[in-house]
Amino acid sequence: MNNQRLLFLMCRPTHFGVLYAINPWMNPLDWQRHETVLAEQAQRQWADLRGALLARGATIELVPAVERLPDLVFAANAAVVLDGKALLARFRHPERQAEEPHFRAMFHALKARGVVHAVQDMPDGMVLEGAGDCVFDHTRNLFWMGFGPRSHAAARRLVGDTFGVEAVALELVDPRFYHMDTALCPLPGGEVLYVPGAFTAAGRATIAERVGKDWRIEIGEGDAGKLAANAVCLDGTLVMSACSERLRAELAERGYRVAIVPLGAFLRSGGSAFCLTLRLDRRSGASAQPELRCQSSGTASASSR
Ligand code: ARG
Repeated sequence: MNNQRLLFLMCRPTHFGVLYAINPWMNPLDWQRHETVLAEQAQRQWADLRGALLARGATIELVPAVERLPDLVFAANAAVVLDGKALLARFRHPERQAEEPHFRAMFHALKARGVVHAVQDMPDGMVLEGAGDCVFDHTRNLFWMGFGPRSHAAARRLVGDTFGVEAVALELVDPRFYHMDTALCPLPGGEVLYVPGAFTAAGRATIAERVGKDWRIEIGEGDAGKLAANAVCLDGTLVMSACSERLRAELAERGYRVAIVPLGAFLRSGGSAFCLTLRLDRRSGASAQPELRCQSSGTASASSR
């Protein structure tokens, strides 16, 4: 019995825009030049994403949008949430630190309604940007934690202690893939989609150790450049902004469907489907593929799929 409520947190893009640059995708001047068109596009694309999730049975909680906090739409960065416990984010950049009290208020409201049962703050001086840098892998019952550009490596211990599951910390080295959710996406059948160049050689070796060869799906440059790793997987369907024929075929071969919801307005801020959402109902406990759980070398057989 895992995650079957499909409960998400999102934030309407009422005040979304590219008002500053804290990653290489962001170009405020460019945004300004086409502001009216892009703001309207963002509203439409966000509504399409919400529609795609609702159509697949999701329930969506909304954190109120706030003027001058354009990146509040990236709800994945609000907190790490597992087993009804929320570890609130602390942001690296002052531009986003002002979001913290709004996400905190939202989670306390969710707690008052019984949606989550515990809300925890980060210790002073430690930075971790929520599920953006802490992606839960249900098959292996662990978090893939990104550090370097946004989150501190030291948060690994805290995540492990807080949730009682392992956090595998990998350094992110390509500025375009500055959050773990831009670089890696675990799929429900045990496959892991990832952008090899986003990691160090040591990071790639760790991935190979944890994920058998037949379960690793490398994302090529073209798809990576459209943030294909930043996908929401619902019930065998990957909702993503773009997908090459090659990747689509590879996914289809493994039994996944792809639903394209163009999110170009958000790509201009360095985000896509996954980070516009935050799953609130995830439960720990490895899923029904025990052979994947105990994989410790890259040599697991593909016989079961
Ligand atoms: N402009 C936002 C930032 O740089 C985008 C965040 C996208 N979130 C994510 N989890 N990838 O912080």
